[in-house]
Amino acid sequence: MSERYAVIGHPVAHSKSPLIHAEFARATGQDIEYRRIEVARDGFRRAVEEFRGAGGRGLNVTLPFKNEAFRYCGQASERARVAEAVNTLAFQEPVLGDNTDGVGLVRDLGRNHHFDLRAARTLLMGAGGAAQGVVGALREAGVAQLVVVNRTVAKAQALAARFPGTRGCGYADLGEESFGLIVNATSASLLDAAPPLPASVFGRGALAYDMVYGRETPFLVAARAAGARGSDGLGMLVEQAAESFFVWRGVRPDTAPVLRKLRGG
Ligand code: ATR
Repeated sequence: MSERYAVIGHPVAHSKSPLIHAEFARATGQDIEYRRIEVARDGFRRAVEEFRGAGGRGLNVTLPFKNEAFRYCGQASERARVAEAVNTLAFQEPVLGDNTDGVGLVRDLGRNHHFDLRAARTLLMGAGGAAQGVVGALREAGVAQLVVVNRTVAKAQALAARFPGTRGCGYADLGEESFGLIVNATSASLLDAAPPLPASVFGRGALAYDMVYGRETPFLVAARAAGARGSDGLGMLVEQAAESFFVWRGVRPDTAPVLRKLRGG
């Protein structure tokens, strides 16, 4: 019988994870089944227990449950502890919580965008779960300089304070500063809004990266209008999925063919 996995969140109806993991399984000859579990905001723990009780082997956790998943797991990986958030649960004893979002972003930037983080000043927008998940990996990848900017300035400062050499500030504090990489980790795109960024943040040849995927967000529109390159977060999604697949199955799938397929190529 195939081993069972799923993505749990609210909402997950449009998640591409089942398709990605089905492709990985086919390509690597792994016998798994992967589905979506939609739960109400207060239903996380019960749904996880139910899935586990029915023999489920692992879960991907998406919004808004990544912090709850961190509290749920019995043992957290170093990168999950740094992020204080979990996007991957493996049902072993004790339950392992991991976070593959940061490595997903860093790999997408390196492999698919050929972007050298060590050479770029980077601006990370947002201080919620999505931003927390990637700061550690950006630092570990040797990012040249990192500024975290958030609407609620205290949250940016609190997040930045956990990572030496990182600065936290508000949008109005950016002045005329420019960056080589601007990552949107806010939820503004989901509301079809853009954070209040001055156009001067987009340096010459800058890459504007939105963690949201499958749409041209107001942030990407503004970035392109300012002369920057733009990317959605589809590559990050595929790379984090590959790392989760590795955590569960011990096999590293090739991401390029899956990303090409999702892009319709
Ligand atoms: P949480 O809600 O737990 O912080 P999240 O949904 O990942 O987790 O966080 C949303 C992030 O998007 C926050 O950084 C939020 O800014 P605030 O902390 O100031 O609320 C940011 N955000 C959402 N809408 C935004 C907007 N229109 N402009 C700028 N930032 C926005």
